[in-house]
Amino acid sequence: MSLEMVLLAAHVPSICHEAKVPDFQTELVKGLRLMKDTIREKQTDVIVLMSCHFPGTFVHYVDATPRHTGVLTAVECPDLISDVPYDYPGDEALALELVKAGKQAGIPAVEVNEPTHMWDYGTVVPLRYLVPNQDIPIISLSVCWASSLEESYQWGIQIGNVLRQSGKRAVFISSGALSHNLVRGRHNKPSLSEQAMDNQFIEYLMKGQYGVAREMLNQYAKIAGVESGGRHLAALFGVLTPEQRAEFWGYGQSSGSANAIISFVS
Ligand SMILES: [Fe+2]
Repeated sequence: MSLEMVLLAAHVPSICHEAKVPDFQTELVKGLRLMKDTIREKQTDVIVLMSCHFPGTFVHYVDATPRHTGVLTAVECPDLISDVPYDYPGDEALALELVKAGKQAGIPAVEVNEPTHMWDYGTVVPLRYLVPNQDIPIISLSVCWASSLEESYQWGIQIGNVLRQSGKRAVFISSGALSHNLVRGRHNKPSLSEQAMDNQFIEYLMKGQYGVAREMLNQYAKIAGVESGGRHLAALFGVLTPEQRAEFWGYGQSSGSANAIISFVS
């Protein structure tokens, strides 16, 4: 039926277990909770989530597995994220449509249909808050390291087209940070210069100046070390249309990174 919402979501590992969320990240959890309600109110049929922690080296992976079941202990931080079970339905047919649309546009999109494929924490952590009942089908997407920002943007356009024509109420989630030059010490904010860039980028989003924000991303991604080189944001810009307006729901720093919950709804 339509693309109901586009969402920038955070996945900082320290919010995985609610009882251990530090004070300076509670806004992120609050924002994700509000978005959980929105996803529910919109009677969402399917969620497509691109994660910065699902790295495709050469191709854009589309997880077409009909059922996503596993137990996550994060490779990068097993002390923070361990023994987290998940069990979500998938949407094989729609995933295959995404792959087909990507290929037709010259984008190397590759289907994964493999029940032993383990989800990453960039996928699992936000979904624990956004879909706690595990009752909405999920299609997980990788980022692709060999992709330019332009290719990720073009991939986003294809994703948006497929979701709008799908006959389903879809939500697209981009799971990743803004500034991401990481330092030790979870409480640390990005540097003042990085904060200035984050604030300018967010201001463009809030004003609906997506073209300008996308232009900014080219340098901002490099200077501020934006997570996944900004590919998850380039894809988000491809999915977005001008009539989808931004609303800001929460911010939290994590080890020098900037993380925000921002929805885009028409
Ligand atoms: Fe991350």
